[in-house]
Amino acid sequence: MFRSLYKTVARPVTLFKPFNTPIPHQIPIAKPRLLLPTIQTKYFASIKMADTKTFIEAVKDRRSYYDLKPESPIPDSRIEEIVKTAIEVLPSSFNSQSARLVLLYGDHHKKLWDITRDGLFAFIPEEQKESSGARISGFKNAYATILFFEDSAPIKELQAAFAPYADKFPQWSEHTSAIHQFFLWTALEAEGFGANLQHYSPIIDDKVKEEWGVDKDYRLIAQLVFGTPNSPPGDRPKLVTLKPLEETFRIFK
Ligand SMILES: Cc1cc2nc3c(=O)[nH]c(=O)nc-3n(C[C@H](O)[C@H](O)[C@H](O)COP(=O)(O)O)c2cc1C
Repeated sequence: MFRSLYKTVARPVTLFKPFNTPIPHQIPIAKPRLLLPTIQTKYFASIKMADTKTFIEAVKDRRSYYDLKPESPIPDSRIEEIVKTAIEVLPSSFNSQSARLVLLYGDHHKKLWDITRDGLFAFIPEEQKESSGARISGFKNAYATILFFEDSAPIKELQAAFAPYADKFPQWSEHTSAIHQFFLWTALEAEGFGANLQHYSPIIDDKVKEEWGVDKDYRLIAQLVFGTPNSPPGDRPKLVTLKPLEETFRIFK
């Protein structure tokens, strides 16, 4: 079943339909690692960089960082290598390869957060504008943003090919995106970034697609903002509100 399906949906890894900006599959492949000491501030003296962290350590260290600087602890080529790795190796339902990622640096990154502020300000009440504006300025002041899209085309193909699962494919597309989000969030923090995950769809969708030439059939799922941390994250929420393990985890041997 999977083999025949693979024939149905497998496609060369041209990740995007025609795009009017440089796209991730044009990025250079692995370069020698360069680990700069930027992150070794008083807050982060104990942080281990990706080369020396185990996967479990990286997962445990991942947090939401909101106080970010527009600086990078690693070369852009390393960021792009990590994003490319996500695209090439992460799983997708029935190997649909439905994830589409856009990496925005510099003025592109800033433009995204201007679009978001304008979209938000068009409908929020006046009294919320100061706090929302400050929050958006925080994102704008980070280093870069990754946009996570899912292409609807392979999902529709799968729905047609496997009607009994038709209602599941959209969910699995969300799962595929979540896997990409989690991997990149964790991997970038393991390299010394801080990151946070945002959701401003649908208010920014049309403008974003227009600005970066994104296919109209791609669904914008999330925005991962990242930069060099200015300060540590707050206390981990679950230390305060952790549910009892008896409720969340069962073992049968
Ligand atoms: C599916 C998902 C959606 C989230 N959406 C947002 C969001 O829109 N804005 C935000 O600031 N954080 C968002 N977060 C971050 C969570 O609030 C955060 O991960 C959680 O409070 C635990 O804190 P930590 O990331 O520091 O461990 C999201 C996290 C997940 C997994």
